Amino acid sequence: MRGRATVRGSDPDAGVLADRLAATRGLSEALVAPLSDADATLQSMADASPAKWHLAHVTWFFETFVLRDHAPGYQPFDAGWGYLFNSYYEAEGPRHARPARGLLSRPSLSQVLAWRAHVDAALAPLFGRPELAPLLELGIAHEQQHQELLLTDIKHALAQNPLGPAMWDAASSPPPSDAGPGAWHEHPGGIALIGADGTGFAFDNEGPRHRVLLEPFALAAQLVTNAEWEVFIADGGYSTPTLWLSDGWAWVRAEGISAPLYWRGHEHFTHAGWQRREPGAPVTHISYYEADAYAAWAGARLPTEFEWEAIASGDDLAGGNQLEVAGPVLPAGSASLFGDCWQWTRSAYLPYPRFRPVAGAVGEYNGKFMSGQFVLKGASCATPRGHSRASYRNFFYPHQRWQFTGLRLARDL
Ligand SMILES: [Fe+2]
Repeated sequence: MRGRATVRGSDPDAGVLADRLAATRGLSEALVAPLSDADATLQSMADASPAKWHLAHVTWFFETFVLRDHAPGYQPFDAGWGYLFNSYYEAEGPRHARPARGLLSRPSLSQVLAWRAHVDAALAPLFGRPELAPLLELGIAHEQQHQELLLTDIKHALAQNPLGPAMWDAASSPPPSDAGPGAWHEHPGGIALIGADGTGFAFDNEGPRHRVLLEPFALAAQLVTNAEWEVFIADGGYSTPTLWLSDGWAWVRAEGISAPLYWRGHEHFTHAGWQRREPGAPVTHISYYEADAYAAWAGARLPTEFEWEAIASGDDLAGGNQLEVAGPVLPAGSASLFGDCWQWTRSAYLPYPRFRPVAGAVGEYNGKFMSGQFVLKGASCATPRGHSRASYRNFFYPHQRWQFTGLRLARDL
């Protein structure tokens, strides 16, 4: 059964929305400009998708939930492609198996780009319909999420090549860090209001806004760095079972883990190929298990998502090191709570009190994933600037680390 998607948003001006859509669609295409069709078809693991698939899937999302449902007379660009590029929407019927996305040599990259242009043209007249603004906003936010996934997925794919191919040249000099000396944001505890406040676009999983009781705590002003992680390794962090959660220790042993993903000697793999690590830059590509073990070793703990949000709610959410233009992205370090790396919290990804998914197929967007995952807060160097919020809830399974995932310590007061 198909339900028409209805979502709640901020009701922005039509011209502003049209400009944001154009900028978002343009950035997606700039991100794949260095890729051949073969590069864009690579799928290195089931968790990751080909760059071409991302470009197509976000276009399917607009074609299905906006054009098919709300543009009278719209004809799909190709009736067979919905099967290929539906991700996980059961309400939209059967779909191509996720681990087999890398087998789709057809449609070609150029055909997918032509589809994108076709859909962009069909969307243009819809900006004058205010009732569609929340859905168009959702489509933009959805494409921004896939821009980050595109970057992390192609990085994982290129890392499998022994030649270590670069997608872009390295930045001429590492971006400057404005991180200050070690300091803590202290919070006296009390009742905190958590969740989206209804003044702008938010995903359904960010609400309803509700009260949470906090005990006094402190949140580190800086992310844990590569240099600090090297001390953890040198001190036997990966070989000391008492530091690890039981599941984490089993994972370390089963997978033979001894360093963050993409580390090799003093180098790490980046979108610019193998590069020397910057010691003062935030460590990234770590699992929840690694983050928790490091926190135990450091005599601290992971923050809850509520603690993080209580500190960040007054911060500049467009600050820090986030994605603006196509090019190599790397954590650099910043005084902002946002940017560089998504930060693991110890909070299970669960519904907030009185949460109800929105009606229709779009209701599958978030709620059905609330099992077995942990919340990450902030934003990363691959998150399009303007996409994240203090209330934003990213979520991944505790063993996953191909995203730009890092760590900010917390402690009790
Ligand atoms: Fe998606």
